[in-house]
Amino acid sequence: MRLITSVLLAQLLSTPLVSAAITVNAQNADSLKSAAKTAAASSVKFYNDRASKLIPGKFDGTWWEAGAFFTFLINYWHWTGDDQYNDIVTEGMSWQGGPNNDFFTSNYSSYLGNDDQEFWALGAMTAAEQKFPDNSAPGSASWLALAQGSYNDFADRWNVDKESCKGGLRWQISPILSGYDAKNAISNGAFFQLAARLYRYTGNQSYADMAETVWDWSVQSVLFDNQTWFINDLTHISENCQDKSDMQWTYNYGSYLAGAAFMYNKTNGATKWKSGVEGLLGSVWATFFPSKYDNVLTEVACDPIKTCNRDQLCFKGLMADWLSKTAMLVPEQAAAIIPKLQASAVAAGKQCSGSGNQCGMQWYSSTYDGTSGIEQEMSALSIFANTLVSFATNGGSSPGYTPPSMPGPVTADDGGNSTSNPSGGQSSGDEYQPPKQTPITGGDRAGAAILTLLFSTSWLAGMAWLVVGGII
Ligand SMILES: *[C@@H]1O[C@H](CO)[C@@H](O)[C@H](O)[C@H]1NC(C)=O
Ligand SMILES: *[C@@H]1O[C@H](CO)[C@@H](O)[C@H](O)[C@H]1NC(C)=O
Ligand SMILES: *[C@@H]1O[C@H](CO)[C@@H](O)[C@H](O)[C@H]1NC(C)=O
Ligand SMILES: *[C@@H]1O[C@H](CO)[C@@H](O)[C@H](O)[C@H]1NC(C)=O
Ligand SMILES: *[C@@H]1O[C@H](CO)[C@@H](O)[C@H](O)[C@H]1NC(C)=O
Repeated sequence: MRLITSVLLAQLLSTPLVSAAITVNAQNADSLKSAAKTAAASSVKFYNDRASKLIPGKFDGTWWEAGAFFTFLINYWHWTGDDQYNDIVTEGMSWQGGPNNDFFTSNYSSYLGNDDQEFWALGAMTAAEQKFPDNSAPGSASWLALAQGSYNDFADRWNVDKESCKGGLRWQISPILSGYDAKNAISNGAFFQLAARLYRYTGNQSYADMAETVWDWSVQSVLFDNQTWFINDLTHISENCQDKSDMQWTYNYGSYLAGAAFMYNKTNGATKWKSGVEGLLGSVWATFFPSKYDNVLTEVACDPIKTCNRDQLCFKGLMADWLSKTAMLVPEQAAAIIPKLQASAVAAGKQCSGSGNQCGMQWYSSTYDGTSGIEQEMSALSIFANTLVSFATNGGSSPGYTPPSMPGPVTADDGGNSTSNPSGGQSSGDEYQPPKQTPITGGDRAGAAILTLLFSTSWLAGMAWLVVGGII
């Protein structure tokens, strides 16, 4: 992910047209399914109309977001049974999985952060846990193998870089990008979560050990305070990891929260993970479900002032998925989680009152905020689909709706049959060179600036195309 300002995006895309909202009755499964169907259709329309549509799984101007997009479409299939988008999910995920089964193909690898690659790996994990059919084409990797191959890359990067700041994954992977000097919460939270999920699915102790290592490093760093359950966004190696950026983002909390929920579940409720889930949920409720917004999920750093960039617009969607999983894995928390998901789903429906039921970002407001885009649609899709978890927990029942027979997340011991292959990733090829600590020279900085400029320019060109193309 990259720091691209999105004020322009909101302005470019703002449209005065409004229509009736999506009316959601969260006690009624058909109502949630129908809302999810509307948001799925409009996000897929954006996907099908994109400029880069000849490349399966590649969004215009951003690569990571499609990993989240496919995750939400898998959730959609899982909770509603509607399989009409399964083929594009399979095609895009398999294509981007690449020759080393790790979502790190040479097209993008020089520009990626660990977090970018992690969202795809977590998407593959979701496919395995929700029993999304594996790609049946000969030679295709299983979803589990893609998650394991990616894991190996992260584990390698962790292992060769234990000295700077006593550990932790960096934000960017390539030394020429300025984020190479940073260690950030999401890169480590999402790696922790991936390790926890692989442990629960496979039972392999190596994954548990890594999950423990990443969590323990995080709570001793400035990133994550396990007394106050406050998570900072980022810290710099050049500052010896003593500085911190304290921007508050849902996904930083959600990545560690869901990981702790998987560990809690697999360890039969070990105290370490129980207190982690409870502590983090307390912060999530206090920070991202403000009572002044009627307890509706809010990206508090940018929703109220409408400055969320494309990345940030996806975070509420990720959080909805992770809260839904936590409600399954930590049943004692379902009664707290489900009403918040339900309130957010109802509120998001009210915000989907742009032309053609396009959704804005300010779920807490019943007045359409005038923004639209695939990211808003994706996050709305996620909250509608993932709130159906209520019918698979003690949250209630709905006439005519049968939750998936194995609502999961499943494991290899209880219905999961995605084939294990613990040996994928770059270490199986020769491509990946462990990063070496090199001082950043003036020339490197200029290189990074040029790369960033190219990236932003193509992104803007892509957005301009969307506008000129008359899609919105
Ligand atoms: C890499 O780029 C080439 C050329 O645009 C494209 O044909 C190919 O599909 C891309 N691969 C991936 C994994 O995106
Ligand atoms: C367990 O995971 C480790 C780390 O990826 C791997 O080296 C090992 O082969 C795995 N063991 C089994 C039995 O799959
Ligand atoms: C916080 O983390 C430290 C390790 O850095 C550990 O000793 C302590 O028990 C943790 N506290 C809680 C409440 O989990
Ligand atoms: C683990 O999750 C399953 C649902 O996926 C649930 O039935 C079970 O009670 C959970 N285990 C614990 C220890 O809470
Ligand atoms: C996994 O189970 C599904 C049915 O639930 C089946 O269609 C599929 O072929 C199985 N996959 C493997 C790899 O055995």
